[in-house]
Amino acid sequence: MGLDRAASIDDLRARAKRRIPRFAFDLVDGGAEGERNMRRNIEAFEEIALVPRYMVDVAEIDTKAEIFGQTYDQPFGQAPIGMLNAFWPDADLKLARLCKRENVPYVASSAASTTLEQLAEAADGNGWFQLYVSGDDAVTEGLIARAEAAGYQVMMVTVDVPAAGKRDRDIRNQLSVPFKFTPGVMLQLAANPVWSLTSLRHGRPNIANYADLLKNATSYADVQKTLITPGLTWVQLKRIRDRWKGKLVVKGILHPEDAVRCAELGADGIVVSNHGGRQVAFGPATIEALPDIAEALSGKLEIILDSGIRRGADILRAKALGAGFVLAGRALAYGVGAGGDEGAERAMDILKLELLRALGQLGISSYAALAQSALHVKDGMSRE
Ligand SMILES: Cc1cc2nc3c(=O)[nH]c(=O)nc-3n(C[C@H](O)[C@H](O)[C@H](O)COP(=O)(O)O)c2cc1C
Repeated sequence: MGLDRAASIDDLRARAKRRIPRFAFDLVDGGAEGERNMRRNIEAFEEIALVPRYMVDVAEIDTKAEIFGQTYDQPFGQAPIGMLNAFWPDADLKLARLCKRENVPYVASSAASTTLEQLAEAADGNGWFQLYVSGDDAVTEGLIARAEAAGYQVMMVTVDVPAAGKRDRDIRNQLSVPFKFTPGVMLQLAANPVWSLTSLRHGRPNIANYADLLKNATSYADVQKTLITPGLTWVQLKRIRDRWKGKLVVKGILHPEDAVRCAELGADGIVVSNHGGRQVAFGPATIEALPDIAEALSGKLEIILDSGIRRGADILRAKALGAGFVLAGRALAYGVGAGGDEGAERAMDILKLELLRALGQLGISSYAALAQSALHVKDGMSRE
């Protein structure tokens, strides 16, 4: 199927799957353990019915949304994704540039395959930085200082990785660090020549911000120790809050009491996220966790939601249950995998046009002026 026949994010995913060796596709597409949480994210969205209102003039629809003092053209942005160059060469840069062109936020991952400085330049004022807190304070401080120097105004601290998630597909594919060319991998490479040749030209995918620190890493455990820590608590988070002058967002919140604590600590926002179902398999879908969190916060913080956004209407389902902004993780990445820059644009257009159509169908002419209570959720899941 050509790109122009891709009607949905799912279609782009299917196309990406055909073009990318299995181990690399699974690295992005997969989730924790049996992937129940990953599926639940999507299914829970599908279960929420919004009731259309008609006879409203929707000849002009404005999708602009304001967050952290900046106005974006859409109420969504790109979530941080590490090691995305394994999926498609230069995927980070392609997405950062796309987000700039479309005037939406691009969140640069600590674990990106491109340096945070290069991504700041590519996103050109639309970049937010995502921080993983290392067990080594000097590593964390190094990243914060670099993010500050690169001009990021918004920093997102990811807190939902006390341990790396167990991803069954990666184990089955025998993914290893450093990457090994097993016979199975060689066969997959031979079967996907376009990916293999393009990737070969661009060199081995890596985690660019830590290149020096990881030079001598011989195991996944070494990488993990540098990137994340099981010892992250509110104490470090408070220190980071005091250290970072810009907007601070805490990513990976699922419990209302944790959300309230983020507000007390002086954060500016949270991302209700389960890491796209990549951390645990037993948790709630984010859209299920959202209503209690929104109620507990009663407007104290900006609420962003991610995990499972595949349709424009999901953005409005999130709004109906209390999130003013969303991030898409895999959705735009599938686009890059399906067709490079053009594929990414196709993914962006699909989300944009689906959102626009859903707003029209729901009788809403301005996203910015949209009150949560104006969206009618069948079966009373919303908290008006
Ligand atoms: C391949 C991959 C890598 C990711 N890397 C990071 C990361 O480095 N930092 C982070 O905070 N979240 C990371 N995430 C989680 C995303 O930021 C986001 O929470 C998730 O993708 C949302 O779910 P969705 O893909 O269903 O939209 C990653 C997700 C994927 C799929």
